[in-house]
Amino acid sequence: MLAMMNRDGVTVWIVLLSSVFAASIAIVFLIGFFSDKANVNGFGPFNSSYEAEFDIPTVELVTTAARTRDGESRAVLSSEFSSKFKPTVRRRQNSKLEQGLAVARAAIRKAASNRNVSLIIKNSDVISTAIYRNAGAFYQSYMEMERRFKVYVYKEGELPIVHDGPCKDIYSSEGRFIHEMEHGNNRFRTSNAKAAHVYFMPFSVTWMVKYLYKPNTYNVSPLKEFVSDYVRLISRKHPFWNKTQGADHFMLTCHDWGPLASSGNAFLYNTSIRVLCNANSSEGFDPRKDVSLPEIHLYGGKVNPKLLSPPPSNISRLYLAFFAGGLHGSIRPILLKHWKGRDQDLHIYEYLPKDQDYYDSMLKSKFCLCPSGYEVASPRIVEAIYAECIPVILSDHYVLPFSDVLNWDAFSIHIDILEIPRLKEILIAVSEDKYLRLKEGLRAVRRHFVLNRPAKRFDMFRMILHSVWLRRLNLRVG
Ligand SMILES: *[C@@H]1O[C@H](CO)[C@@H](O)[C@H](O)[C@H]1NC(C)=O
Ligand SMILES: *[C@@H]1O[C@H](CO)[C@@H](O)[C@H](O)[C@H]1NC(C)=O
Ligand SMILES: *[C@@H]1O[C@H](CO)[C@@H](O)[C@H](O)[C@H]1NC(C)=O
Ligand SMILES: *[C@@H]1O[C@H](CO)[C@@H](O)[C@H](O)[C@H]1NC(C)=O
Ligand SMILES: *[C@@H]1O[C@H](CO)[C@@H](O)[C@H](O)[C@H]1NC(C)=O
Ligand SMILES: *[C@@H]1O[C@H](CO)[C@@H](O)[C@H](O)[C@H]1NC(C)=O
Repeated sequence: MLAMMNRDGVTVWIVLLSSVFAASIAIVFLIGFFSDKANVNGFGPFNSSYEAEFDIPTVELVTTAARTRDGESRAVLSSEFSSKFKPTVRRRQNSKLEQGLAVARAAIRKAASNRNVSLIIKNSDVISTAIYRNAGAFYQSYMEMERRFKVYVYKEGELPIVHDGPCKDIYSSEGRFIHEMEHGNNRFRTSNAKAAHVYFMPFSVTWMVKYLYKPNTYNVSPLKEFVSDYVRLISRKHPFWNKTQGADHFMLTCHDWGPLASSGNAFLYNTSIRVLCNANSSEGFDPRKDVSLPEIHLYGGKVNPKLLSPPPSNISRLYLAFFAGGLHGSIRPILLKHWKGRDQDLHIYEYLPKDQDYYDSMLKSKFCLCPSGYEVASPRIVEAIYAECIPVILSDHYVLPFSDVLNWDAFSIHIDILEIPRLKEILIAVSEDKYLRLKEGLRAVRRHFVLNRPAKRFDMFRMILHSVWLRRLNLRVG
């Protein structure tokens, strides 16, 4: 072998090399074949929809470039094998996923440039453009999501902390999303992990608090450890986390301590998509990669019957503004100090009088105050949307839900904390015209904040997925 100077030696060496090469191809086939058989997702090697992956350079193996049924070119092996199974190489398959995303991005950009529409009516979808930052872009992006988006849900982890979450009370949006993802019959979930755009880690921070946290200790390290262990588990067992350092992975929680729990893994915190109710931009929430989750308070797991359907438009709104709630956090004390029991038009309470009903009061008011409490989000925002009572956002550093696509100025009012003393003056100054436009906006935006079982087009579940989709696309549609 060392006699490479020798002509014959060189020849021998080459022959040897090429037989090693041929043998390695054969081995690759075999490995491919048996790993197909071992595939837990049940895609047999002869299933034409299955695409095997190899972790080896592609160039030598490609003998023909074939076209798949959907017209995207991919590499296949020699023809005698291609009739049985058509392995593609990882880089190729990823590039197929990426190509799809590139097509989607281009279509969205094109749609974004057409701002000359006041109403989009397509395939029986009616999109009132006033409530979006760019309605054309949103609609196109939503359609592209429905066409392509695939989520893989990790199977690792056990009940009750993983694969479940609260579907009642203040953290309902957490449990309802996890349940829909786990059990819903949804077209976005794929059991073929290799074909997924994003990977969902279905743990519940609320259940971590319930089962792992010792009350009154203020020690959140068991939560962080759980998250850290979970990421370690899936990153050892599957190749996906390491490939992107978690950038195409997401978690979701409505608990106030969601951000703290997510700091159990530095990459999860800094790189992954975190879908959070507590979307406080001065506590690490990054709207470019994280998603703001609406908070919904479902007493007993249900929307109050008074808010179930849009209120009649001729309902009389006797009060200028309404708020009832505890002195949580730093903003409410300011609000109550200035306005509690001060003014006949402003119904502002710490404790709602016994003879008054909370939801009736919302339905009777023009404006509903939504100050942050212990954390930035407030379930009052969604309740106000249901009641068509214009939400008055009183918060600092709160990134509003779906503000990646929604123009909140079209259906809410934001008042700076420093302006709280001028609250009444500001609300009175809103013209009747503007008030009616805001109310119309609320009626149009309602469907994005409704939870359905099963999920429906444009509802909250799909809007959350859409926000995740936009982060994966790495596209802003402003
Ligand atoms: C092939 O895979 C698809 C999923 O992509 C599955 O729905 C189908 O049942 C499989 N067919 C067979 C014969 O295994
Ligand atoms: C908007 O589109 C309509 C028809 O498609 C056209 O007549 C009108 O001039 C356009 N308006 C603007 C401002 O481009
Ligand atoms: C991912 O990286 C971690 C840490 O570097 C390592 O322990 C783990 O085995 C890797 N996972 C895979 C599937 O290779
Ligand atoms: C996120 O990244 C920053 C800057 O690199 C780092 O200081 C911080 O510790 C990281 N966060 C977590 C939770 O690890
Ligand atoms: C509102 O309109 C409905 C019919 O559309 C009517 O029955 C009802 O009395 C009206 N209510 C008020 C307060 O005007
Ligand atoms: C948001 O984060 C800042 C900085 O940590 C904090 O001062 C503020 O209280 C937080 N807001 C709420 C409502 O918790």
